[in-house]
Amino acid sequence: MAETILVTGATGTLGSEVVRQLSNSTDVNIKAAARSVEKIKNLESDKVKAVSMDYNKPENLKEALKNVDKLFLLTPDVPTAHELASNLVNEAKKAGVKYIVKQSVMGADEDADVGTMRLHRRAEKIIEESGIPYTFLRPNEFMQNFINFHGHSIKNNNVFYIPAQEAKVSIVDVRDIAAVAVKALTDINGNVIHKNKAHLITGPEAISYYQAADILTTETGKKIDYVSISDEDARGGMKEMGMNDWLINTILELYNYYRKGYASYVSSAVEEVTGRKPITFAKFAKDYAETFR
Ligand SMILES: NC(=O)c1ccc[n+]([C@@H]2O[C@H](COP(=O)([O-])OP(=O)(O)OC[C@H]3O[C@@H](n4cnc5c(N)ncnc54)[C@H](OP(=O)(O)O)[C@@H]3O)[C@@H](O)[C@H]2O)c1
Repeated sequence: MAETILVTGATGTLGSEVVRQLSNSTDVNIKAAARSVEKIKNLESDKVKAVSMDYNKPENLKEALKNVDKLFLLTPDVPTAHELASNLVNEAKKAGVKYIVKQSVMGADEDADVGTMRLHRRAEKIIEESGIPYTFLRPNEFMQNFINFHGHSIKNNNVFYIPAQEAKVSIVDVRDIAAVAVKALTDINGNVIHKNKAHLITGPEAISYYQAADILTTETGKKIDYVSISDEDARGGMKEMGMNDWLINTILELYNYYRKGYASYVSSAVEEVTGRKPITFAKFAKDYAETFR
């Protein structure tokens, strides 16, 4: 019988891609969940059903988890992320969920210097303690951040500003993270490489933001510059964008982590799990060139 997989964060960057790729698998029914269900309607099909779900509403979680076999768990970057995950894991346990694939982050650790890394590790531990088998996805920075966070500035002013100096980062395409997630959710034969394991997911190489700007220039046909700014200027810019202090602080901690060179590690996870090489930044820039022009 077809399994039912609940994909949370389905309106977001990664969750929507997981739903799209999972739809190509045979023998699965997909529940695509987030609070704003009308935003998921475009993903609906014979296989995909949109469900409204809020981590802060237990009765809502119970309904969404009915008849669910496996769960893709994604939490937003908020200071209570581990509590949101805990609410969902508790209900998943009661509902008899048999497997959890959790979106985490590279560097997840209780003693990490970066707030989101500490919170993700706390949430991972909650899953470990639940006894439900799991796979943790620990990706490096998304290539799609160039669209979501810098796209407006690149499109309108041909420049992006990041306080990363010369740091090299093995940025990864969200399509590759989703591909690993789908394998972990569906590949029964490959269970040993997924079950109760963490996949550290990176792109094929570590590049600096200067190199990223050169690649964007080549693929879009217009000159795009990277300007390394101070933390103070970055804070001012993020405040103007309406970000809260907690998120600004955690992003600045992350860039400090990058400047120390910690995000330059290149892993083989994408190829090991999917059997193909991870997407290069040049391919990403080519595929999304229109977004930046
Ligand atoms: N960006 C990166 O470079 C990067 C790198 C590594 C790891 N990560 C991790 O990846 C995750 C973010 O992924 P993303 O960028 O794909 O997310 P995203 O686009 O920001 O989307 C967040 C999703 O969470 C849902 N959501 C928010 N609050 C909710 C609530 N209370 N109840 C139910 N659903 C809720 C949102 O939908 P609604 O608003 O409709 O509810 C949305 O679908 C974070 O955990 C982050 O730490 C990010």
